[in-house]
Amino acid sequence: MLNLKKNTAAALCALIAEKYPAATLTAEEILDMLEYPPDKAMGDLALPCFRLSKSLRRSPMEIAKTLAEGISLPELASVEVQGGYLNFRVDGTAFAKRVVGEISEKGEKYGSPMSGVGKTVVLDYSSPNVAKPFHIGHLGTTVIGHSLKLIHEFAGYRCVGINYLGDWGTQFGKLIVAYKKWGDKAAVEEKGVDELVALYVRINNEIKAEEDASAAGADGVKSSPLADAARAEFKKLEEGNEENIALWKWFVSVSLEEYEKTYRQLGITFDSYKGESFYTDKMPAQVQKLRESGLLKIDDGASIVDLEPYGMPPCLILKRDGSTLYPTRDIAAAVYRKQTYAFDKAIYVTSAAQSLHFAQWFKVVELMGYDWYGQLVHVPYGTVSINGAKLATRTGNVILLKDLFAEAIARVYEITKEKHPDPAECAAIAEKVGVGAIVFYYLSNNRMRDINFMMEDALSFDGNTGPYVQYTYARTCSVLEKADRNAVMTDAPLGEREMELAKALSRFPERVEAALAESEPSLITRYILDVCAAYNGFYHDCSILSCEDASVKQSRVALTAATSRVLKTALHLICMQSPEKI
Ligand code: ARG
Repeated sequence: MLNLKKNTAAALCALIAEKYPAATLTAEEILDMLEYPPDKAMGDLALPCFRLSKSLRRSPMEIAKTLAEGISLPELASVEVQGGYLNFRVDGTAFAKRVVGEISEKGEKYGSPMSGVGKTVVLDYSSPNVAKPFHIGHLGTTVIGHSLKLIHEFAGYRCVGINYLGDWGTQFGKLIVAYKKWGDKAAVEEKGVDELVALYVRINNEIKAEEDASAAGADGVKSSPLADAARAEFKKLEEGNEENIALWKWFVSVSLEEYEKTYRQLGITFDSYKGESFYTDKMPAQVQKLRESGLLKIDDGASIVDLEPYGMPPCLILKRDGSTLYPTRDIAAAVYRKQTYAFDKAIYVTSAAQSLHFAQWFKVVELMGYDWYGQLVHVPYGTVSINGAKLATRTGNVILLKDLFAEAIARVYEITKEKHPDPAECAAIAEKVGVGAIVFYYLSNNRMRDINFMMEDALSFDGNTGPYVQYTYARTCSVLEKADRNAVMTDAPLGEREMELAKALSRFPERVEAALAESEPSLITRYILDVCAAYNGFYHDCSILSCEDASVKQSRVALTAATSRVLKTALHLICMQSPEKI
Protein backbone atom coordinates (compact mmCIF):
# COMPACT_ATOMS: atom_id res chain seq x y z
CA MET A 1 0.00 0.00 0.00
CA LEU A 2 1.15 3.50 -0.71
CA ASN A 3 1.36 4.96 2.72
CA LEU A 4 4.04 7.58 2.62
CA LYS A 5 4.47 7.83 6.34
CA LYS A 6 4.51 4.09 6.97
CA ASN A 7 6.79 3.27 4.09
CA THR A 8 9.21 6.00 5.05
CA ALA A 9 9.17 4.89 8.68
CA ALA A 10 9.89 1.30 7.66
CA ALA A 11 12.75 2.37 5.40
CA LEU A 12 14.19 4.60 8.12
CA CYS A 13 13.92 1.85 10.67
CA ALA A 14 15.91 -0.54 8.51
CA LEU A 15 18.48 2.15 7.79
CA ILE A 16 18.89 3.07 11.46
CA ALA A 17 19.37 -0.58 12.38
CA GLU A 18 22.13 -0.78 9.79
CA LYS A 19 23.89 2.48 10.66
CA TYR A 20 23.40 2.36 14.42
CA PRO A 21 23.38 -1.32 15.37
CA ALA A 22 22.99 -0.52 19.06
CA ALA A 23 19.71 1.32 18.52
CA THR A 24 16.45 -0.38 19.47
CA LEU A 25 13.91 1.88 17.77
CA THR A 26 10.79 0.34 16.26
CA ALA A 27 9.13 1.42 13.04
CA GLU A 28 6.12 2.45 15.18
CA GLU A 29 8.23 4.85 17.20
CA ILE A 30 9.72 6.38 14.07
CA LEU A 31 6.25 6.67 12.56
CA ASP A 32 5.22 8.76 15.53
CA MET A 33 8.13 11.12 14.97
CA LEU A 34 7.38 11.83 11.30
CA GLU A 35 5.53 15.05 10.64
CA TYR A 36 3.71 16.64 7.76
CA PRO A 37 5.38 20.05 7.62
CA PRO A 38 2.97 22.97 7.75
CA ASP A 39 5.21 24.89 5.36
CA LYS A 40 5.52 23.38 1.90
CA ALA A 41 9.04 24.75 1.55
CA MET A 42 10.03 22.05 3.99
CA GLY A 43 8.88 19.24 1.75
CA ASP A 44 6.12 16.69 2.09
CA LEU A 45 7.28 14.85 5.16
CA ALA A 46 9.85 15.67 7.81
CA LEU A 47 11.81 13.87 10.49
CA PRO A 48 12.91 16.09 13.36
CA CYS A 49 16.20 14.34 14.11
CA PHE A 50 16.55 15.84 17.59
CA ARG A 51 13.97 13.29 18.61
CA LEU A 52 16.45 10.57 17.73
CA SER A 53 19.54 12.08 19.28
CA LYS A 54 18.94 10.72 22.73
CA SER A 55 18.58 7.11 21.71
CA LEU A 56 21.27 7.27 19.01
CA ARG A 57 23.62 9.46 21.06
CA ARG A 58 24.52 11.67 18.13
CA SER A 59 23.72 15.27 17.25
CA PRO A 60 20.56 15.83 15.18
CA MET A 61 22.70 17.27 12.39
CA GLU A 62 24.91 14.21 12.21
CA ILE A 63 21.93 11.83 12.25
CA ALA A 64 20.17 13.81 9.52
CA LYS A 65 23.27 13.63 7.28
CA THR A 66 23.80 9.93 7.79
CA LEU A 67 20.19 9.04 7.11
CA ALA A 68 19.94 11.35 4.09
CA GLU A 69 22.79 9.51 2.40
CA GLY A 70 21.42 6.05 2.95
CA ILE A 71 17.70 6.34 2.29
CA SER A 72 16.01 5.29 -0.93
CA LEU A 73 12.33 4.81 -1.64
CA PRO A 74 10.61 4.82 -5.01
CA GLU A 75 8.07 7.45 -4.00
CA LEU A 76 10.69 9.89 -2.75
CA ALA A 77 12.13 12.36 -5.22
CA SER A 78 14.58 14.01 -2.84
CA VAL A 79 15.77 14.07 0.72
CA GLU A 80 17.30 17.21 2.15
CA VAL A 81 18.99 18.08 5.39
CA GLN A 82 17.78 21.37 6.83
CA GLY A 83 19.01 22.19 10.28
CA GLY A 84 18.35 19.12 12.37
CA TYR A 85 15.53 18.09 10.06
CA LEU A 86 15.38 15.56 7.31
CA ASN A 87 12.93 16.81 4.69
CA PHE A 88 11.45 14.38 2.23
CA ARG A 89 9.87 15.35 -1.05
CA VAL A 90 7.78 13.03 -3.17
CA ASP A 91 8.07 12.64 -6.89
CA GLY A 92 4.84 14.42 -7.94
CA THR A 93 3.54 12.61 -10.97
CA ALA A 94 4.72 9.16 -9.97
CA PHE A 95 3.28 9.61 -6.49
CA ALA A 96 -0.11 10.87 -7.65
CA LYS A 97 -0.29 8.10 -10.23
CA ARG A 98 0.23 5.50 -7.57
CA VAL A 99 -2.30 7.03 -5.19
CA VAL A 100 -5.03 7.39 -7.78
CA GLY A 101 -4.22 3.95 -9.22
CA GLU A 102 -4.57 2.40 -5.80
CA ILE A 103 -7.89 4.13 -5.16
CA SER A 104 -9.36 2.92 -8.43
CA GLU A 105 -8.04 -0.57 -7.90
CA LYS A 106 -9.31 -0.93 -4.35
CA GLY A 107 -12.53 1.01 -4.87
CA GLU A 108 -14.73 1.05 -1.80
CA LYS A 109 -12.06 -0.85 0.12
CA TYR A 110 -9.48 1.90 -0.31
CA GLY A 111 -8.35 3.04 3.12
CA SER A 112 -9.38 -0.07 4.99
CA PRO A 113 -6.75 -1.19 7.47
CA MET A 114 -8.20 -4.74 7.35
CA SER A 115 -6.95 -5.16 10.89
CA GLY A 116 -10.29 -6.54 12.06
CA VAL A 117 -10.56 -9.52 9.76
CA GLY A 118 -11.53 -12.59 11.76
CA LYS A 119 -12.39 -10.52 14.83
CA THR A 120 -15.70 -9.59 16.41
CA VAL A 121 -16.64 -6.36 18.08
CA VAL A 122 -19.85 -5.78 19.99
CA LEU A 123 -21.00 -2.17 20.21
CA ASP A 124 -23.54 -1.03 22.78
CA TYR A 125 -24.88 2.38 21.81
CA SER A 126 -27.90 4.68 21.60
CA SER A 127 -29.81 2.62 24.21
CA PRO A 128 -32.50 5.15 25.17
CA ASN A 129 -34.72 4.66 28.17
CA VAL A 130 -38.18 3.67 27.03
CA ALA A 131 -40.96 6.16 27.69
CA LYS A 132 -38.47 8.84 28.54
CA PRO A 133 -37.69 11.43 25.87
CA PHE A 134 -35.14 10.53 23.18
CA HIS A 135 -33.35 13.85 23.31
CA ILE A 136 -30.19 15.56 22.12
CA GLY A 137 -28.24 14.01 24.97
CA HIS A 138 -28.61 10.76 23.01
CA LEU A 139 -27.21 12.25 19.81
CA GLY A 140 -23.66 11.49 20.96
CA THR A 141 -24.12 7.83 21.80
CA THR A 142 -26.19 7.30 18.69
CA VAL A 143 -23.92 8.84 16.08
CA ILE A 144 -20.55 8.17 17.71
CA GLY A 145 -21.65 4.60 18.34
CA HIS A 146 -22.86 4.03 14.84
CA SER A 147 -19.85 5.67 13.28
CA LEU A 148 -17.57 3.42 15.34
CA LYS A 149 -19.54 0.46 14.11
CA LEU A 150 -19.09 1.55 10.50
CA ILE A 151 -15.37 2.19 10.99
CA HIS A 152 -14.91 -1.26 12.53
CA GLU A 153 -16.92 -2.85 9.75
CA PHE A 154 -14.71 -1.07 7.25
CA ALA A 155 -11.65 -2.50 9.01
CA GLY A 156 -13.02 -5.99 8.50
CA TYR A 157 -14.50 -6.67 11.93
CA ARG A 158 -17.69 -8.63 12.32
CA CYS A 159 -19.82 -6.06 14.14
CA VAL A 160 -22.79 -6.58 16.41
CA GLY A 161 -24.64 -3.35 17.12
CA ILE A 162 -26.70 -3.61 20.27
CA ASN A 163 -29.42 -1.24 21.38
CA TYR A 164 -29.50 -1.94 25.10
CA LEU A 165 -32.91 -0.40 25.58
CA GLY A 166 -33.72 0.87 29.05
CA ASP A 167 -36.87 -1.23 29.00
CA TRP A 168 -37.12 -2.22 32.65
CA GLY A 169 -37.29 -0.50 35.98
CA THR A 170 -39.52 1.39 38.33
CA GLN A 171 -40.44 3.96 35.67
CA PHE A 172 -42.79 1.33 34.25
CA GLY A 173 -44.61 1.13 37.55
CA LYS A 174 -45.15 4.87 37.34
CA LEU A 175 -46.24 4.72 33.76
CA ILE A 176 -48.73 1.94 34.43
CA VAL A 177 -50.30 3.90 37.28
CA ALA A 178 -50.41 7.07 35.19
CA TYR A 179 -51.92 5.27 32.23
CA LYS A 180 -54.55 3.53 34.31
CA LYS A 181 -55.49 6.81 35.97
CA TRP A 182 -55.33 9.35 33.18
CA GLY A 183 -54.38 7.46 30.04
CA ASP A 184 -56.28 7.15 26.83
CA LYS A 185 -55.58 4.38 24.35
CA ALA A 186 -56.42 6.49 21.32
CA ALA A 187 -54.13 9.29 22.48
CA VAL A 188 -51.18 6.92 22.89
CA GLU A 189 -51.91 5.38 19.51
CA GLU A 190 -52.04 8.76 17.91
CA LYS A 191 -49.26 10.62 19.66
CA GLY A 192 -47.01 7.68 20.51
CA VAL A 193 -44.08 8.25 22.78
CA ASP A 194 -44.99 11.93 23.29
CA GLU A 195 -48.12 10.84 25.11
CA LEU A 196 -46.14 8.37 27.23
CA VAL A 197 -43.65 11.07 28.14
CA ALA A 198 -46.53 13.41 29.06
CA LEU A 199 -47.98 10.75 31.36
CA TYR A 200 -44.59 10.13 32.86
CA VAL A 201 -43.94 13.81 33.45
CA ARG A 202 -47.38 14.22 34.99
CA ILE A 203 -47.02 11.38 37.48
CA ASN A 204 -43.58 12.58 38.50
CA ASN A 205 -44.96 16.03 39.16
CA GLU A 206 -47.88 14.66 41.13
CA ILE A 207 -45.65 12.41 43.19
CA LYS A 208 -43.51 15.40 43.99
CA ALA A 209 -46.58 17.42 44.99
CA GLU A 210 -47.78 14.62 47.25
CA GLU A 211 -44.38 14.35 48.86
CA ASP A 212 -44.14 18.09 49.36
CA ALA A 213 -47.53 18.10 51.02
CA SER A 214 -46.78 15.20 53.36
CA ALA A 215 -44.85 15.41 56.58
CA ALA A 216 -41.67 13.39 56.71
CA GLY A 217 -42.13 10.05 58.46
CA ALA A 218 -40.01 8.71 61.29
CA ASP A 219 -37.33 7.56 58.81
CA GLY A 220 -37.24 11.03 57.26
CA VAL A 221 -38.89 9.80 54.05
CA LYS A 222 -41.88 11.68 52.70
CA SER A 223 -44.76 9.56 51.56
CA SER A 224 -46.70 9.57 48.35
CA PRO A 225 -49.62 7.22 47.69
CA LEU A 226 -48.95 7.48 43.97
CA ALA A 227 -45.33 6.42 44.45
CA ASP A 228 -46.53 3.47 46.56
CA ALA A 229 -48.96 2.51 43.84
CA ALA A 230 -46.18 2.70 41.24
CA ARG A 231 -43.98 0.39 43.29
CA ALA A 232 -46.85 -2.04 43.63
CA GLU A 233 -47.51 -2.02 39.88
CA PHE A 234 -43.85 -2.60 39.10
CA LYS A 235 -43.82 -5.50 41.54
CA LYS A 236 -46.83 -6.96 39.75
CA LEU A 237 -45.01 -6.52 36.46
CA GLU A 238 -41.99 -8.35 37.82
CA GLU A 239 -44.22 -11.15 39.01
CA GLY A 240 -45.63 -11.56 35.53
CA ASN A 241 -49.09 -10.03 35.96
CA GLU A 242 -50.66 -10.38 32.52
CA GLU A 243 -52.30 -7.00 32.28
CA ASN A 244 -49.13 -5.21 33.27
CA ILE A 245 -46.96 -7.29 30.97
CA ALA A 246 -49.26 -6.41 28.09
CA LEU A 247 -49.09 -2.70 28.94
CA TRP A 248 -45.32 -2.82 29.28
CA LYS A 249 -44.91 -4.55 25.91
CA TRP A 250 -47.13 -1.98 24.35
CA PHE A 251 -45.21 0.94 25.85
CA VAL A 252 -41.95 -0.54 24.60
CA SER A 253 -43.23 -1.10 21.09
CA VAL A 254 -44.78 2.37 20.85
CA SER A 255 -41.45 3.87 21.91
CA LEU A 256 -39.44 1.72 19.52
CA GLU A 257 -41.58 2.72 16.59
CA GLU A 258 -40.70 6.28 17.32
CA TYR A 259 -36.96 5.68 17.77
CA GLU A 260 -36.89 3.74 14.56
CA LYS A 261 -38.01 6.78 12.61
CA THR A 262 -34.96 8.63 13.83
CA TYR A 263 -32.73 5.62 13.19
CA ARG A 264 -34.09 5.37 9.66
CA GLN A 265 -33.22 9.00 8.99
CA LEU A 266 -29.71 8.29 10.18
CA GLY A 267 -29.43 5.05 8.24
CA ILE A 268 -28.96 3.11 11.48
CA THR A 269 -30.02 -0.47 12.04
CA PHE A 270 -29.24 -2.62 15.06
CA ASP A 271 -28.39 -6.28 15.15
CA SER A 272 -29.97 -6.71 18.56
CA TYR A 273 -32.51 -4.86 20.63
CA LYS A 274 -31.99 -6.93 23.76
CA GLY A 275 -32.66 -4.38 26.47
CA GLU A 276 -32.29 -4.41 30.21
CA SER A 277 -35.36 -6.59 30.74
CA PHE A 278 -33.70 -9.46 28.86
CA TYR A 279 -31.12 -9.87 31.62
CA THR A 280 -33.51 -10.31 34.53
CA ASP A 281 -32.99 -14.06 34.67
CA LYS A 282 -29.28 -13.84 33.86
CA MET A 283 -28.32 -11.84 36.95
CA PRO A 284 -28.77 -14.42 39.74
CA ALA A 285 -25.96 -16.60 38.38
CA GLN A 286 -23.53 -13.66 38.43
CA VAL A 287 -24.65 -12.58 41.91
CA GLN A 288 -24.07 -16.15 43.02
CA LYS A 289 -20.59 -16.18 41.49
CA LEU A 290 -19.78 -12.91 43.25
CA ARG A 291 -20.96 -14.32 46.52
CA GLU A 292 -19.03 -17.58 46.12
CA SER A 293 -15.82 -15.80 45.29
CA GLY A 294 -16.19 -13.79 48.49
CA LEU A 295 -16.42 -10.48 46.68
CA LEU A 296 -19.81 -9.43 48.06
CA LYS A 297 -19.91 -7.44 51.24
CA ILE A 298 -22.99 -6.38 53.14
CA ASP A 299 -23.08 -2.67 53.74
CA ASP A 300 -26.10 -1.25 55.54
CA GLY A 301 -28.14 -4.14 54.20
CA ALA A 302 -27.04 -3.67 50.60
CA SER A 303 -24.62 -6.00 48.78
CA ILE A 304 -21.57 -4.27 47.38
CA VAL A 305 -18.13 -4.97 45.99
CA ASP A 306 -15.52 -2.95 47.81
CA LEU A 307 -13.33 -1.08 45.32
CA GLU A 308 -11.43 1.04 47.76
CA PRO A 309 -8.09 -0.63 46.92
CA TYR A 310 -8.62 0.62 43.37
CA GLY A 311 -9.49 4.15 44.40
CA MET A 312 -13.17 3.89 43.56
CA PRO A 313 -16.39 3.94 45.54
CA PRO A 314 -18.03 0.53 46.05
CA CYS A 315 -19.94 -1.08 43.19
CA LEU A 316 -23.57 -1.67 44.20
CA ILE A 317 -24.87 -5.11 43.29
CA LEU A 318 -28.09 -5.55 45.31
CA LYS A 319 -30.25 -3.01 47.12
CA ARG A 320 -31.43 -3.60 50.66
CA ASP A 321 -34.61 -5.18 49.37
CA GLY A 322 -32.57 -7.55 47.22
CA SER A 323 -33.41 -5.88 43.93
CA THR A 324 -30.69 -5.58 41.29
CA LEU A 325 -29.03 -2.45 40.01
CA TYR A 326 -27.58 -0.95 36.84
CA PRO A 327 -24.09 -2.48 37.36
CA THR A 328 -25.56 -5.91 38.13
CA ARG A 329 -27.35 -5.89 34.83
CA ASP A 330 -24.31 -4.68 32.91
CA ILE A 331 -22.19 -7.49 34.35
CA ALA A 332 -24.78 -10.11 33.40
CA ALA A 333 -25.13 -8.59 29.94
CA ALA A 334 -21.36 -8.61 29.34
CA VAL A 335 -21.11 -12.29 30.30
CA TYR A 336 -24.05 -13.13 28.04
CA ARG A 337 -22.53 -11.21 25.13
CA LYS A 338 -19.16 -12.88 25.58
CA GLN A 339 -20.84 -16.29 25.50
CA THR A 340 -23.10 -15.41 22.61
CA TYR A 341 -20.76 -13.51 20.32
CA ALA A 342 -17.27 -14.48 21.51
CA PHE A 343 -16.24 -10.86 21.05
CA ASP A 344 -12.66 -9.65 20.82
CA LYS A 345 -13.77 -6.20 21.91
CA ALA A 346 -16.92 -4.83 23.53
CA ILE A 347 -17.45 -1.09 23.16
CA TYR A 348 -19.88 0.96 25.26
CA VAL A 349 -20.67 4.49 24.13
CA THR A 350 -22.20 6.73 26.79
CA SER A 351 -21.83 10.21 28.17
CA ALA A 352 -18.76 10.83 30.32
CA ALA A 353 -21.12 11.14 33.28
CA GLN A 354 -21.17 7.32 33.32
CA SER A 355 -17.40 6.83 33.24
CA LEU A 356 -17.20 5.84 36.89
CA HIS A 357 -20.00 3.30 36.48
CA PHE A 358 -18.07 1.58 33.69
CA ALA A 359 -14.72 1.72 35.48
CA GLN A 360 -16.39 0.13 38.50
CA TRP A 361 -18.11 -2.78 36.86
CA PHE A 362 -15.18 -3.45 34.50
CA LYS A 363 -13.10 -3.85 37.66
CA VAL A 364 -15.68 -6.18 39.19
CA VAL A 365 -15.60 -8.34 36.03
CA GLU A 366 -11.82 -8.52 36.41
CA LEU A 367 -12.08 -9.45 40.09
CA MET A 368 -14.59 -12.16 39.21
CA GLY A 369 -11.80 -13.80 37.24
CA TYR A 370 -13.14 -13.28 33.74
CA ASP A 371 -9.96 -13.12 31.73
CA TRP A 372 -11.57 -11.06 29.00
CA TYR A 373 -12.08 -7.98 31.16
CA GLY A 374 -9.41 -6.17 29.14
CA GLN A 375 -11.61 -6.37 26.07
CA LEU A 376 -14.23 -4.09 27.60
CA VAL A 377 -13.90 -0.51 26.36
CA HIS A 378 -15.85 2.50 27.50
CA VAL A 379 -16.01 5.33 24.96
CA PRO A 380 -17.25 8.48 26.73
CA TYR A 381 -18.28 11.82 25.25
CA GLY A 382 -18.98 15.34 26.50
CA THR A 383 -22.28 17.14 27.00
CA VAL A 384 -24.43 18.90 24.41
CA SER A 385 -26.42 22.05 24.84
CA ILE A 386 -28.36 24.04 22.28
CA ASN A 387 -28.50 27.73 21.71
CA GLY A 388 -31.72 29.44 20.78
CA ALA A 389 -34.98 29.05 22.61
CA LYS A 390 -36.80 28.40 19.36
CA LEU A 391 -35.94 24.73 19.52
CA ALA A 392 -37.45 24.13 22.93
CA THR A 393 -40.24 21.60 22.81
CA ARG A 394 -43.38 21.14 24.79
CA THR A 395 -41.56 18.71 27.04
CA GLY A 396 -39.92 21.70 28.62
CA ASN A 397 -36.20 22.25 28.41
CA VAL A 398 -35.27 19.01 26.66
CA ILE A 399 -34.89 19.00 22.93
CA LEU A 400 -36.04 15.86 21.22
CA LEU A 401 -33.87 14.39 18.50
CA LYS A 402 -36.79 14.07 16.13
CA ASP A 403 -37.59 17.77 16.55
CA LEU A 404 -33.99 18.72 15.97
CA PHE A 405 -33.93 16.71 12.75
CA ALA A 406 -37.34 18.00 11.66
CA GLU A 407 -36.21 21.57 12.09
CA ALA A 408 -32.98 21.00 10.16
CA ILE A 409 -34.84 19.25 7.35
CA ALA A 410 -37.45 22.02 7.13
CA ARG A 411 -34.79 24.69 6.91
CA VAL A 412 -32.87 22.89 4.18
CA TYR A 413 -36.14 22.39 2.30
CA GLU A 414 -36.72 26.14 2.34
CA ILE A 415 -33.21 26.82 1.06
CA THR A 416 -33.29 24.24 -1.74
CA LYS A 417 -36.89 24.29 -2.91
CA GLU A 418 -36.25 26.73 -5.73
CA LYS A 419 -33.60 24.49 -7.22
CA HIS A 420 -35.79 21.41 -6.94
CA PRO A 421 -39.31 22.09 -8.10
CA ASP A 422 -40.38 18.48 -7.53
CA PRO A 423 -41.45 18.46 -3.85
CA ALA A 424 -40.72 14.75 -3.34
CA GLU A 425 -37.23 15.08 -4.74
CA CYS A 426 -36.63 18.19 -2.69
CA ALA A 427 -37.87 16.49 0.48
CA ALA A 428 -35.56 13.52 -0.08
CA ILE A 429 -32.56 15.80 -0.54
CA ALA A 430 -33.57 18.00 2.40
CA GLU A 431 -33.65 14.96 4.67
CA LYS A 432 -30.18 13.79 3.66
CA VAL A 433 -28.70 17.26 3.93
CA GLY A 434 -30.58 18.32 7.07
CA VAL A 435 -29.81 15.20 9.06
CA GLY A 436 -26.28 15.11 7.63
CA ALA A 437 -25.71 18.69 8.77
CA ILE A 438 -26.45 17.77 12.36
CA VAL A 439 -24.37 14.64 12.29
CA PHE A 440 -21.44 16.42 10.70
CA TYR A 441 -21.59 19.34 13.09
CA TYR A 442 -21.73 16.99 16.02
CA LEU A 443 -18.90 14.79 14.80
CA SER A 444 -16.62 17.72 13.97
CA ASN A 445 -15.54 17.97 17.56
CA ASN A 446 -13.36 15.76 19.62
CA ARG A 447 -15.86 13.54 21.34
CA MET A 448 -14.83 14.60 24.84
CA ARG A 449 -15.45 18.27 24.15
CA ASP A 450 -18.67 19.81 25.43
CA ILE A 451 -20.70 21.16 22.54
CA ASN A 452 -22.97 24.13 22.29
CA PHE A 453 -25.10 23.40 19.29
CA MET A 454 -25.74 26.30 16.92
CA MET A 455 -28.28 25.44 14.27
CA GLU A 456 -27.29 28.34 11.99
CA ASP A 457 -23.69 27.18 11.94
CA ALA A 458 -24.59 23.56 11.32
CA LEU A 459 -26.80 24.34 8.34
CA SER A 460 -24.62 26.90 6.62
CA PHE A 461 -23.62 26.00 3.06
CA ASP A 462 -20.28 27.70 3.45
CA GLY A 463 -17.92 27.12 6.26
CA ASN A 464 -16.89 23.70 7.42
CA THR A 465 -20.32 22.13 7.50
CA GLY A 466 -22.17 19.03 6.39
CA PRO A 467 -23.94 20.81 3.54
CA TYR A 468 -20.58 22.11 2.30
CA VAL A 469 -18.97 18.66 2.19
CA GLN A 470 -22.03 17.05 0.64
CA TYR A 471 -22.03 19.84 -1.90
CA THR A 472 -18.39 19.17 -2.69
CA TYR A 473 -19.16 15.50 -3.19
CA ALA A 474 -22.07 16.41 -5.50
CA ARG A 475 -19.66 18.63 -7.42
CA THR A 476 -17.35 15.68 -8.11
CA CYS A 477 -20.38 13.71 -9.31
CA SER A 478 -21.46 16.42 -11.67
CA VAL A 479 -17.96 16.58 -13.22
CA LEU A 480 -17.88 12.82 -13.62
CA GLU A 481 -21.29 12.76 -15.23
CA LYS A 482 -19.76 14.55 -18.16
CA ALA A 483 -16.48 12.67 -18.26
CA ASP A 484 -14.99 9.21 -18.29
CA ARG A 485 -15.27 7.85 -14.74
CA ASN A 486 -12.63 5.25 -15.45
CA ALA A 487 -9.98 7.66 -16.63
CA VAL A 488 -6.47 6.88 -15.37
CA MET A 489 -3.67 9.30 -14.56
CA THR A 490 -1.29 10.08 -17.41
CA ASP A 491 2.34 11.20 -17.21
CA ALA A 492 1.40 14.87 -17.61
CA PRO A 493 3.27 16.96 -15.06
CA LEU A 494 1.13 18.10 -12.13
CA GLY A 495 0.74 21.51 -10.55
CA GLU A 496 0.64 22.35 -6.89
CA ARG A 497 -3.15 22.05 -6.52
CA GLU A 498 -3.18 18.62 -8.06
CA MET A 499 -0.36 17.48 -5.84
CA GLU A 500 -2.09 18.82 -2.72
CA LEU A 501 -5.16 16.84 -3.63
CA ALA A 502 -3.21 13.65 -4.33
CA LYS A 503 -1.44 13.99 -1.00
CA ALA A 504 -4.71 14.54 0.85
CA LEU A 505 -6.16 11.43 -0.78
CA SER A 506 -3.09 9.39 0.14
CA ARG A 507 -3.67 10.11 3.84
CA PHE A 508 -7.00 8.38 4.10
CA PRO A 509 -5.68 5.00 5.30
CA GLU A 510 -3.72 6.49 8.17
CA ARG A 511 -6.64 8.65 9.28
CA VAL A 512 -8.90 5.61 9.38
CA GLU A 513 -6.34 3.76 11.45
CA ALA A 514 -6.10 6.64 13.89
CA ALA A 515 -9.88 6.95 14.16
CA LEU A 516 -10.06 3.25 14.93
CA ALA A 517 -7.26 3.32 17.46
CA GLU A 518 -8.65 6.35 19.28
CA SER A 519 -12.36 5.56 18.85
CA GLU A 520 -12.59 9.05 17.43
CA PRO A 521 -14.89 9.63 14.43
CA SER A 522 -13.98 13.33 14.39
CA LEU A 523 -10.64 12.38 12.83
CA ILE A 524 -12.59 11.24 9.76
CA THR A 525 -14.76 14.37 9.83
CA ARG A 526 -11.71 16.58 9.82
CA TYR A 527 -10.11 14.49 7.13
CA ILE A 528 -13.19 15.03 4.95
CA LEU A 529 -12.72 18.78 5.39
CA ASP A 530 -9.08 18.49 4.29
CA VAL A 531 -10.08 16.64 1.15
CA CYS A 532 -12.87 19.10 0.39
CA ALA A 533 -10.52 22.05 0.80
CA ALA A 534 -7.97 20.39 -1.48
CA TYR A 535 -10.58 19.49 -4.08
CA ASN A 536 -12.22 22.90 -4.11
CA GLY A 537 -8.82 24.60 -4.42
CA PHE A 538 -8.04 22.34 -7.35
CA TYR A 539 -11.47 22.87 -8.91
CA HIS A 540 -11.16 26.64 -8.82
CA ASP A 541 -7.63 26.83 -10.15
CA CYS A 542 -7.55 24.03 -12.68
CA SER A 543 -9.99 23.65 -15.52
CA ILE A 544 -11.14 20.07 -15.80
CA LEU A 545 -13.71 19.45 -18.49
CA SER A 546 -12.65 22.44 -20.53
CA CYS A 547 -8.94 21.68 -20.31
CA GLU A 548 -7.42 21.65 -23.78
CA ASP A 549 -4.52 19.33 -23.15
CA ALA A 550 -6.07 15.87 -23.39
CA SER A 551 -3.44 14.27 -21.22
CA VAL A 552 -3.78 16.85 -18.44
CA LYS A 553 -7.56 16.68 -18.66
CA GLN A 554 -7.48 12.93 -18.24
CA SER A 555 -5.37 13.20 -15.09
CA ARG A 556 -7.71 15.80 -13.64
CA VAL A 557 -10.73 13.66 -14.31
CA ALA A 558 -8.96 10.70 -12.69
CA LEU A 559 -8.20 12.85 -9.63
CA THR A 560 -11.85 13.86 -9.48
CA ALA A 561 -12.97 10.23 -9.63
CA ALA A 562 -10.55 9.33 -6.85
CA THR A 563 -11.80 12.24 -4.72
CA SER A 564 -15.38 11.21 -5.29
CA ARG A 565 -14.62 7.66 -4.20
CA VAL A 566 -12.76 8.68 -1.05
CA LEU A 567 -15.38 11.23 -0.02
CA LYS A 568 -18.18 8.73 -0.44
CA THR A 569 -16.40 6.16 1.71
CA ALA A 570 -15.42 8.71 4.35
CA LEU A 571 -18.91 10.20 4.55
CA HIS A 572 -20.33 6.74 5.01
CA LEU A 573 -17.95 6.15 7.94
CA ILE A 574 -19.46 9.09 9.81
CA CYS A 575 -23.05 8.00 9.04
CA MET A 576 -23.65 10.56 6.35
CA GLN A 577 -25.41 10.09 3.08
CA SER A 578 -23.83 11.31 -0.10
CA PRO A 579 -26.50 12.59 -2.49
CA GLU A 580 -25.21 13.06 -6.04
CA LYS A 581 -27.21 16.22 -6.50
CA ILE A 582 -28.02 18.96 -4.03
N1 ARG B 1 -29.97 3.47 29.01
C1 ARG B 1 -28.82 4.13 29.53
C2 ARG B 1 -29.06 5.64 29.58
O1 ARG B 1 -29.87 6.15 28.83
C3 ARG B 1 -27.59 3.90 28.70
C4 ARG B 1 -27.14 2.47 28.61
C5 ARG B 1 -25.71 2.35 28.24
N2 ARG B 1 -25.26 0.99 28.09
C6 ARG B 1 -24.95 0.19 29.09
N3 ARG B 1 -24.61 -1.06 28.81
N4 ARG B 1 -24.98 0.57 30.34
O2 ARG B 1 -28.41 6.31 30.35
